[in-house]
This record gives sequence, C-alpha cells and structure tokens, in this order.
Amino acid sequence: MDDPDKGAANPWGLAWSADSQTLVTTHAGTHAVYVTHFPELLDQLSHHRRKSSGIQEIHSDPLAAGLTNELPFILNSRRHVALPKTDLGPRAAMVVGQKVYVANYFSDTLDVIDLAARRLAAVSLPLGPKPGMSLVRQGEFYFNDAGIGREGWQSCYSCHPGDGRTDGLNWDLINDGIGNPKNTRSLLLSYQTPPAMSLGVRATAEIAVRAGIKGTLFSDQPEAVPAAIDAYLRSLKPVPSPWLVNGDLSPAAGRGQRIFQEVGCARCHPPGLFTNLRAYNVGTGRSFDQPTDKFYTPTLVEIWRTAPYLHDGSAATVREVLTTRNPRDQHGVTSDLSAEEVDDLCAYLLSL
Ligand code: HEC
Ligand code: HEC
Repeated sequence: MDDPDKGAANPWGLAWSADSQTLVTTHAGTHAVYVTHFPELLDQLSHHRRKSSGIQEIHSDPLAAGLTNELPFILNSRRHVALPKTDLGPRAAMVVGQKVYVANYFSDTLDVIDLAARRLAAVSLPLGPKPGMSLVRQGEFYFNDAGIGREGWQSCYSCHPGDGRTDGLNWDLINDGIGNPKNTRSLLLSYQTPPAMSLGVRATAEIAVRAGIKGTLFSDQPEAVPAAIDAYLRSLKPVPSPWLVNGDLSPAAGRGQRIFQEVGCARCHPPGLFTNLRAYNVGTGRSFDQPTDKFYTPTLVEIWRTAPYLHDGSAATVREVLTTRNPRDQHGVTSDLSAEEVDDLCAYLLSL
C-alpha cells in the first residue's frame, strides 16, 4: 500500500463500489484514503513489463516478474486522497453510489468523497459539537499516528495493535544489539513491571516509550507526546479472559491453579502481577541469543491473547512453553505432569 517514498501506515477499512470497479482503503495512521481503479490494477498486473538487460519481457506471473519488490507500478491505478487537517484516524469506509463515506475515529467526523469529480477531494461533514481530547485520548492518538514517525511508515500501533498489545511478530530492534529478533510485547502492565524489554535494556516503560520514538519511529518529538502516550498506556486495563465461565475459573482451570502452585510456577510468577520482576535463564535461549542472556519474567495476565510466547515467539502455544520448549525442566518442573495435568495448567494460564 505504501508509495515508494511515503508510508501509508495502518491500513484499516476496505470498501468496494457496487460494480466492483473501485476499491477504497483507509489509512488510519496517515489520515488518508486510497481510491483504486481495480480493473486497471489487474490490467497492470497481467501486463507488467520488466526491463532486464535491455530486453522488455512480458510476464504473466507477477511474482515471477519480481513484482513484490516493485511498488511504483501500483501508482498509476490508484489515487491518494488526503483528509482535511481536522479529520483524524479514518477507519470504516462505505461506498454508496458515487459517494465514499469515511468515519474518522479520533476527530469524530465523517468525510465524503465524490467519485464522479475529476479531482478527488475529501469534504468534512459536520456532526455537531466535538468534545475535546482528554490526555489519555491524546496519547491514544499519538500512539496510532504515523505522523510522529518518519515518512509515515509506521506508528507504535503498527506493531502494538489492539490497544497497545502485540502483532505477534518478531522484530530486530536496535536497543539490544542486532541479529537477535524479539517478539513484540504487550504493553499492558508495562509501567508496573520494570525493567522494560525482555532483556531489561530499558529501566522503565517511560524510558522505553521515549527511546521508541527516537529509535523505532526515527523522529524527535516534544515531551508532550511521550507524556500523553504514558497516560494512555497506563490507562490500559486487562480484558477478562474468554476462558472464564461466568467470570470464574472453569473446573479444569481450578485444578490447573493448584498445579501452578505445586510445581513452583508461582515462585517467579506470583499471583497479582504474575511476575517477581527478576531475570532468569530458564533454558529458553536459542542460537540468536547470547549464552549469558537472562530474560525478565513476563506477566502472565492476558496471555490468552498474546501468542506466540517467549522472548523470541518460539512457542506457538502455552502448551509448547511447558512441553517442547521446556525439555530439561529448567522452566518449572513439568516433565512429570500427565497430559491431563498439562491441559489443566494451560486452562488456568489462559484464564488469567
Ligand atoms: C517495529 C515494531 C515496533 C514498533 C513500531 C514499536 N514497537 Fe514497542 N516493542 C516492539 C518489540 C519487538 C518489543 C519487545 C522488545 C524486547 O523484548 O526486547 C517492544 C517493546 C516495547 C516496550 C516494552 C514493554 C515491556 O513491558 O517490556 C514498550 C514500552 C514499547 N515497546 C513501546 C512502544 C512505543 C511507545 C512505540 C511507538 C513510539 C513502539 N513501542 C513502537 C516492537 C515495536
Ligand atoms: C525461575 C523462574 C521461573 C519459573 C519457576 C517459571 N517461570 Fe515462566 N517464565 C520465566 C521467565 C524468565 C520467562 C521468559 C522466558 C523467555 O522469554 O524466553 C517465563 C515465561 C513464561 C511464559 C511465557 C509468557 C509470554 O508471554 O511469553 C509462560 C506461559 C510461563 N512462563 C509459565 C510458567 C509456568 C506455567 C511455570 C510453572 C510450570 C513457570 N512459568 C515457571 C520464569 C519462570
């Protein structure tokens, strides 16, 4: 979706015209809408010409033509519509006849784009008086806004979607050296569980937020920006697990809770925050890591929604954390648990 020299961060909504000719995408991080003429896009894909050693070849298979590495071809088939400065965070879109309607999450406004016009433009529809933004809301806005990042490629939200949680992907950030990718962490409880990052390279979440703006978004921002992001992230509340039954542990999770205590998990993951805030080598280091690396015990609150697990995302499920990724019982003694006991323990962990 990006232009070669400008990002189109956080694509959010998608809408088709009734005749399937026009595809509309909203870009929540860059406050813009793209209008793509779809037949033209298909046409370009099938007739993509690739110049190699002076000879023009016509490829029928776009992947064989190396198209995935060539962004510019798409530019001819789509138009970029920037929203008015007052309209922020376009999300849902809908095409009704020749009109595109776009709902803007942060400004609480609606835009209309007339597809029949020669020059496409977004016009704001007033919806009545607008409430001001609280500090928390302001922080949520900056967290989602690729405008605070270099060239609009990404915002904090791009890797921490779903209210500051995780995209589940590994990223090789520079704060702990390069060549050792880490799984994106959820930011729920980050302010209560210092230090930040799996290796603890940032003493607090506040420091991590400021370092993230500089080192991940490559930009300088006035202190008001990270201060508002702090307020937003501090306001995050755990969402009750869908594994709970009427708000309580299921019978299996109840049995798992006892096992959790018996096999010593609670020593490092004591109920409450479910971390004792200390670092250990629990046998999870792999070839990308240093043999001396110790990882800070993560909270277990809300792990039902943060797969994959461990610092490098190497466990797809909680069960793998306790079984295939714990072969020598360095991470709690789990090898003598029966299959049913492991199930019960997993049910408990996924209920937190
Ligand atoms: C390219 C993806 C990416 C982007 C963009 C990104 N982060 Fe992260 N973030 C990560 C990863 C990966 C980690 C875990 C790193 C580790 O464990 O060493 C992380 C960890 C953190 C942590 C530490 C959490 C904890 O409790 O240990 C904070 C705080 C944080 N990010 C805030 C931010 C903020 C604020 C922004 C925007 C300024 C941002 N991140 C942008 C990928 C990203
Ligand atoms: C000696 C301290 C210690 C003990 C005992 C311990 N853990 Fe951990 N736990 C850790 C550390 C450290 C990590 C992070 C490892 C990593 O990221 O590679 C971790 C990670 C986890 C994770 C992954 C969380 C995530 O978000 O990635 C789960 C699940 C977990 N532990 C459950 C348990 C269970 C269940 C037990 C008991 C069988 C247990 N732990 C015993 C220290 C401990």
